[in-house]
Amino acid sequence: MPHVKQINHIAVVVDDIDKALSFWRDALGMELRELRDAPAEKSKVAFLPLHGSEVELVQPTSDDSGIAKYLAKRGPGMHHICLEVDDIEGMMSQLKSKGARLINEEPRTAADGKKYAFIHPESASGVLVELYQI
Ligand code: CO
Repeated sequence: MPHVKQINHIAVVVDDIDKALSFWRDALGMELRELRDAPAEKSKVAFLPLHGSEVELVQPTSDDSGIAKYLAKRGPGMHHICLEVDDIEGMMSQLKSKGARLINEEPRTAADGKKYAFIHPESASGVLVELYQI
């Protein structure tokens, strides 16, 4: 059986990453590990780690990405939760066999070799869920 190991990250979509950091870094006091442009995702991302997990703040940098449309429609807020699994293919076939609706039918591979896939919020209590296998 495939297993969920931990929460890898929680992604929050923001309209102004500096303003968002004044809360997450300055007021809460979380460490900012990295703030970088992610041109492939047409966004800027801030990573704030916490015990093997992290909060990711994502600010779209163009109007035509999925996350920009999400921001335009719903405003800033929680975008997705990412669960790390030990066997992403196994988890995806288990989910399919239980009738869950997947956004990606097959796992994708990121530049750093991580495999990932998204599950539709319709199947996950209204939450967009990302799966990671590192
Ligand atoms: Co993510």
